[in-house]
Amino acid sequence: IDLTPFNTLALPGKAARYLKITDATQLTAISPGDGRRFVLGGGSNLVLGGDFDGLVLHMAIPGKRLLHEDAEACYIEAGAGENWHDFVQWTLAQGWPGLENLSLIPGTVGAAPIQNIGAYGLEVGERLHSVQAWDFEKQVFFTVDRKNCHFSYRDSVFKQQGWHLNGRIAIVSVIFRLPKAWRANIGYADLRQELAACGIAEPGARDVADAVIAVRRRKLPDPALTPNAGSFFHNPVVDRNIADALKAQHPALPCYPQPDGRIKLAAGWLIEQAGWKGKDLGPVGMYEKQALVLVNRGGASGTDVRRTMAAVQAAVREKFAVDLSPEPVFL
Ligand code: EPU
Repeated sequence: IDLTPFNTLALPGKAARYLKITDATQLTAISPGDGRRFVLGGGSNLVLGGDFDGLVLHMAIPGKRLLHEDAEACYIEAGAGENWHDFVQWTLAQGWPGLENLSLIPGTVGAAPIQNIGAYGLEVGERLHSVQAWDFEKQVFFTVDRKNCHFSYRDSVFKQQGWHLNGRIAIVSVIFRLPKAWRANIGYADLRQELAACGIAEPGARDVADAVIAVRRRKLPDPALTPNAGSFFHNPVVDRNIADALKAQHPALPCYPQPDGRIKLAAGWLIEQAGWKGKDLGPVGMYEKQALVLVNRGGASGTDVRRTMAAVQAAVREKFAVDLSPEPVFL
């Protein structure tokens, strides 16, 4: 089966075998020794390197419901195949705020915990209760509580253990915990500015969602029109002395102190300063309005993506001596 429609970078490649999973029990029929596997969600964080000589499991398990409610919080369960943005908008329509800052992130509910999706001052790990998954080797369903997900910036136990990339597990559903005590999370400068421009002083959750959607639409390309995988690199986190030295040379360098004392730098800024904003190498370039987003200008392959990625990494390394690591998964 052709995988081009199933990855938002629109890279070409075929899967030897393909199975759409609409019910978790289908997973129990797959034997552990059945060759290589790849568990596919929305394909929005994926670099397809060409044909895949294995089994692609396309996670399409539906469902969303209020599981339980107590004085402090609502617990909402959603199937791995639910579209993330639609799910977030549904929670807001039900009167359960808490995920609004994560509006318009591409992909599925099941993929969200893997890289701990985050934007505009919130990471999904902060609103997650637990993850249900199938273990292909042990042939059991198991639950991972929030604490055991080991969430950090764009990272989780699912990545740390290689469970996702090895095809060891498939996430089948996620339970979210949305606290009833709600305050607008509008610390992120872009978000504050957008709300101010709309004349909204005391935003509700819907206002915050609409502001996030407006900012994202302005800065980020729509994958349906310009194939991309969102931010292509992590924002690098460096030791304070490295950040101080860079700041002395480049006073405009954006620096975000982390809880552990290290400093997060803005990869988009580094890439722009290295001359790569809006620049292409063959059919793959960095987006003109947000230099952190790698775009397929048409007809690119996984090899073209790797070539541009390496050129951008080399340019940033040469100018700043900082290494950029890619955010997507490479298949
Ligand atoms: N910047 C530039 N030039 C650029 C891009 C950015 O100078 O071309 C500067 C901005 O002016 C700003 C700083 O870099 O000072 C940060 O930029 P921005 O607020 O756009 O956010 P980001 O760090 O580039 C991260 C996430 C995004 C998320 C936004 C908002 C990562 C890798 N990316 O981007 O996530 O939407 O913050 O919270 O952490 C994604 O992961 O796919 C994604 C889109």
